[in-house]
Amino acid sequence: MVDFNRIIERRGTHASKWDNMAKLSGITAPDAIPMWVADMDFAAPPGVTAALTAEVERAVHGYYADTGTWAQALADWMARRHGLTIDPAWVSPTPGIVSGLGLILQAVTEPGDEVVLFPPAYHAFRKIIVANERRILDAQLVNNQGRYAMDLNALAEKLTPRTKIIFLCSPHNPGGTVWSPEELRALAAFCTERDLYLVSDEIHCDLVYKGHKHTPTLAAAPEIADRLITCVAATKTFNLAGAHVGACVTTNPALKKKLDARIGASGLGSYNGFGMIATEAGWRTGEAWLDELLVYLEANRDLFDTLIEDAAPGARSMRLDATYLAWVDFSGTGLKSTDVADRVAKRARIFASPGQQFGPGGDSWLRFNIATPRPILVEALTRLEDAFADLRSGR
Ligand SMILES: Cc1ncc(COP(=O)(O)O)c(C=O)c1O
Repeated sequence: MVDFNRIIERRGTHASKWDNMAKLSGITAPDAIPMWVADMDFAAPPGVTAALTAEVERAVHGYYADTGTWAQALADWMARRHGLTIDPAWVSPTPGIVSGLGLILQAVTEPGDEVVLFPPAYHAFRKIIVANERRILDAQLVNNQGRYAMDLNALAEKLTPRTKIIFLCSPHNPGGTVWSPEELRALAAFCTERDLYLVSDEIHCDLVYKGHKHTPTLAAAPEIADRLITCVAATKTFNLAGAHVGACVTTNPALKKKLDARIGASGLGSYNGFGMIATEAGWRTGEAWLDELLVYLEANRDLFDTLIEDAAPGARSMRLDATYLAWVDFSGTGLKSTDVADRVAKRARIFASPGQQFGPGGDSWLRFNIATPRPILVEALTRLEDAFADLRSGR
């Protein structure tokens, strides 16, 4: 049994989640709780620690030789967990998914081209698009009684000749939506009709709760394989974000050649050995750990949803099919967004991600990372209860 209740002190360890909190949020209280960036406060699977320890003890840290074992470990994992066949020859390692997205943009679009997002959506999508001098075309998700849906008819009206590519987040961050095979096929058909590339960022695909099943876009719609790039990683799954390794996968050799040319042009064809060793070990040894993690996170999700809605009457937490990023709409509390933000930051001393970061549709929302030991989660919820106490006094 893994002890996910164990609290590991992360302050003063270059943990961005903890050590960047004051700088980014202005919350300087020594007991502040970070519930923003998407990493977990849990130790990695023991097999990862063992692989890294062996490397450290060998104490020779020269250039890493990619002998093919890494992509094979990824392929074996995807076959086992998701029933997806990946040929290692389709895989291009990148220093993380966001950098992969930037390289994809450079490979298949020009400055000024438009990239479709389905906001509210992962904020780094917006940043990497703008940083590459491409433009964002927002196709806001529709909230259908607590579950997000894509509105492809509305998107069709907005397309221009400069629209070249769609960034899909599957499962979706924030909101944790697991897209159905039908939804993915409809999107795929849309991309074919409109001659668009599709990037399917599936970094959260392993963090799916009971009753839901992730379908890789490539499996749902193999007919669009030629215009599809899937992004996957071991870093969210096994809490290895600092390893900064991801993979872009495409069956289309011409597309892969373009992407690899960009990787080469940026000098990124030689990989970070520690990251490769850690992530390969995750895929090879981390399965039992992940199964236990999912049970723990699901209990955190259930506890959080119940208590946040009790704490702040009118608040609604979107039911997560996947991810550990609780997504809470405070509009029903009757409070202004600035008041909610103030209560959470100042009274509860919690740094949650502001909903506006995620683009249109995020305004009255906050995102809370619940992947933390239960004692910390309970403390956070107790503080939130206090922060909204006056709302309950009139009940
Ligand atoms: C959807 C999504 N893609 C990518 C990333 C980050 O990936 P990386 O750290 O590999 O760039 C995150 C992190 O939260 C994410 O939520």
